[in-house]
Amino acid sequence: MQSTLHPAGPEATEVALLWWVMFGASVFIMGLVVGLIAWGLTRATGRERFAGMPMIVGLGIVFPVVVITPLIVWSVDITSRVRAAITPAVTVEVVGRQFWWEVRYPGHGIVTANEIRVPVGQPVELVLTTADVIHSLWFPEIAGKLDMIPGRANRMVIQADRAGTFRGQCAEFCGIQHALMALVLVAEPPDAFEDWATAQSQPPPPPEDPFLVWGRDAFLAAGCGTCHAVRGTPAKGTFGPDLSHVGSRVTLGAGVLPNGIGPLAGWIADSQAIKPGNHIPAFNTLDGETLRAVAAWLESLK
Ligand code: CUA
Repeated sequence: MQSTLHPAGPEATEVALLWWVMFGASVFIMGLVVGLIAWGLTRATGRERFAGMPMIVGLGIVFPVVVITPLIVWSVDITSRVRAAITPAVTVEVVGRQFWWEVRYPGHGIVTANEIRVPVGQPVELVLTTADVIHSLWFPEIAGKLDMIPGRANRMVIQADRAGTFRGQCAEFCGIQHALMALVLVAEPPDAFEDWATAQSQPPPPPEDPFLVWGRDAFLAAGCGTCHAVRGTPAKGTFGPDLSHVGSRVTLGAGVLPNGIGPLAGWIADSQAIKPGNHIPAFNTLDGETLRAVAAWLESLK
């Protein structure tokens, strides 16, 4: 569920509480205003009304000041508290790109994409930058949104209070596929996170199955390594997502497809039909069996 009203982290919990209180206040004031309008419309005319100065001062000045001042003070206090300096357990660099997310763990030597793994219950620092235009990272269940702006690094500390997979979304229009620029936050128990980090920091083992060897060789022959890196192979491109462990990810194409050999083969053959305007050319010249071998090899990279 991608909803700010379903919080799973301390920052989102504060934001959700603030939202409910402001919603309650708005409903109360709306009811009051509608009630006063109804009262004014149904009163007999020609008599002295409760109007004039007391009404203007009471409902026009005193009431808004009394209601709005504490809400402003409270929301400013929340804003400063949720972005306070906290020593993080893990630092993750997230780079916004048209139209996907590069994710790096400098302390672990990991480069991945469209998926941020974190240990449950621990503060994680996100360092947000962009390789092209302005994007904005938002996991509604975890924290507020923060922009990724050219020429600067924005920082936020998030925490997931329960294990699970939380969907996030680019929240700043960044081009034709802005709406299909999603990612997931996978929160796991700390030991599962460490196992994942250890596996991701290693290059994938070379394939032994002849079908997978064929797939790897076809991947390299088609020039995929110009844009993509697979550690342990000559593929060293940095323009597209690092595919060293692509088979372990939850989604493909920044949240547009479930991960699997079939969806991956379709994505390689014609991603422009699935996500028009992304930067991958269609590899529709590969024959079906070669395409399947390439997808099978990539999916074997866990
Ligand atoms: Cu990236 Cu919108």
